[in-house]
Amino acid sequence: MSATGPAAAFAAGPRLREAALHGSLRPGLPDLPQEIPGALDSVVTSDGALIVRSLQRAADLIPDPTGLVYERLFSLHPHMEPLFIRDTNGSVRGEMLAKVFEIILDLVADRRYAANMIRCEVVTHAGYGVPADVFWTFFDVLSEVIGEQLGDDWTAETEGAWARLLLNVRALPR
Ligand code: HEM
Repeated sequence: MSATGPAAAFAAGPRLREAALHGSLRPGLPDLPQEIPGALDSVVTSDGALIVRSLQRAADLIPDPTGLVYERLFSLHPHMEPLFIRDTNGSVRGEMLAKVFEIILDLVADRRYAANMIRCEVVTHAGYGVPADVFWTFFDVLSEVIGEQLGDDWTAETEGAWARLLLNVRALPR
């Protein structure tokens, strides 16, 4: 059965999965210091592998996490729920979540488009009525939901990798 919705981000990324399993994301790059506030490069090879593995494990456990993610988002930011008024069948929510997964996979690997896309989406979302400080919390919500689902598999190393990713996403040039 082929993956749909957010799970499709994984189905589309066999190379990433392969790289994660063999610990060879971004081969050839030296290990960089783990914490450089403001520098995307602090998401290093090992962090990328941990993040991809956690996404992969989450996809195995919850093929469609859309409900859980938005439930958490709306409990933290109830005033965001009415903004999805036009999303009568949940497809926009699913599509947005899938895009965020793809962005994360790009950030921890090739970094071909994620930074630009995020910069554009912050502006587009301001137009929807999503303040920038709320926009960033989507990534936090995602990591929390994944952490909860992974249980014991959410190790200190994985949590650290996600924490550095979240720091770096926020530090992207605006
Ligand atoms: C709490 C944070 C966020 C809120 C409240 C939010 C809200 C929304 C809303 C209301 C829409 C639908 C707009 C419409 O009526 O057409 C939307 C669409 C979208 N959002 Fe977000 N957003 C958030 C974070 C993000 C992030 C972090 C990204 C990616 C960087 C993102 C990417 C998208 C994309 C790509 C769409 C269009 C989906 C489609 O194809 O229909 N959003 N968002």
